[in-house]
Amino acid sequence: MRPNSIKSLDNILYLEDVSLLDIAKKYPTPFYIYSKEMILAAIDSYLTNIRKKDLVCYSVKANSNLAILKIMAEKGMGFDVVSGGELFKVLKIGADPQKIIYSGVGKTKPELEYAVDKDIKSINIESLFELELLNQIGNEKNKVINTGIRINPDIDAKSHPYIETGKADCKFGLSVDDAKRIADASHDGISISGISAHIGSQITDDELFGTLFNDLKALSEFFISKGHPINHIDVGGGLAIDYDFQESFSPELMTKKVIDMAGDIPIFFEPGRSLIGQAGSLVTEVLGVKINGTNRFLIVDAGMNDLIRPALYQANHKIEAISASSESSEKHYVVGPVCETADSFGEFSIAAQEHDHLVIYSVGAYGYSMASNYNSRLRAAEYLIDGSKISEIRKAESYEDLIKLDQY
Ligand code: LLP
Repeated sequence: MRPNSIKSLDNILYLEDVSLLDIAKKYPTPFYIYSKEMILAAIDSYLTNIRKKDLVCYSVKANSNLAILKIMAEKGMGFDVVSGGELFKVLKIGADPQKIIYSGVGKTKPELEYAVDKDIKSINIESLFELELLNQIGNEKNKVINTGIRINPDIDAKSHPYIETGKADCKFGLSVDDAKRIADASHDGISISGISAHIGSQITDDELFGTLFNDLKALSEFFISKGHPINHIDVGGGLAIDYDFQESFSPELMTKKVIDMAGDIPIFFEPGRSLIGQAGSLVTEVLGVKINGTNRFLIVDAGMNDLIRPALYQANHKIEAISASSESSEKHYVVGPVCETADSFGEFSIAAQEHDHLVIYSVGAYGYSMASNYNSRLRAAEYLIDGSKISEIRKAESYEDLIKLDQY
């Protein structure tokens, strides 16, 4: 099983109309490769059931390549940003500020001032100190800043503990009690017009979005009763993708479920992974085969600096050979060159030898965006495939790029 855009023809894998073997031989590996068709299909699955007044804000942290942000903007998506850098990027591609929301547990004063100066749709307040700071900025700038309150609804997302954000003891959001206290206070530098939450990522149970909506709705009614002009409820992101390609977690059904409960209130969604995750793959070359002790290793030229998810969350990304060169497929650990034993993509039955190419699936989200220069490795190129057209949407870094900011 593989992503929808990948097909096998005469034992060679194709992404849309492009032979992965040809492209792997032509361009230096490793590289990321994205299917535009899959990105568009994922966007459509979010847009099918939403109403004109609702907004899907692509969560930029999943993948912030400007070409990808442009595709999102062209399809009418808004953006969920969590840093000044992400805000800069979406403004750079011409995003409508009234479709940008800003969440994040530790925003600095310069970041908040930047967002305020750009008049974005909503800054989601996550703590009492942030509320005071924003109110102060509003007063200093003689503005009434549009904000939302991000609450911590104490919902268990039943995901990996590192990416659950909605339980009472997580650092994210404000407790409902704190939020209610805010509703009673008066702050003339801000206007509270949204109630939001994001309970975590890789959520496989879409019932949780209904539970969350009910909590947010109850709180929004409380805020309205206290005179706050609540004009949207934001249920965050988090819908899972299936890294094993067995099940589908449907954005159509999830959005419908929430919107059916919504009544008149506009709903915001903040998906990241489910918009871009399955559209991206990482292509890598086998540098050699090695047996140490009882283990067989395929040592490849992509490492944990290119895809940290297996090392960080024990995530399992499916891997296969781009062209099956031999019949027998033995079990190998596919490992990268980084000087850490954690630099392993896991154990797979793969028929491959030196100089063969492998493809690692489902890396569109939190692949490149979490890549680093660890071991002074160069971050890899990114390509976008549209039918038979190949566009380089980010160049590979050079050695010069590695040192250009050092002062010595
Ligand atoms: N909104 C907020 C406020 C978030 O913090 C996140 C993700 C999202 C939306 C988008 O969630 P998504 O739809 O992508 O699940 N690096 C981890 C995932 C971290 C997610 C952080 N927040 C991973 O590779 O699994």
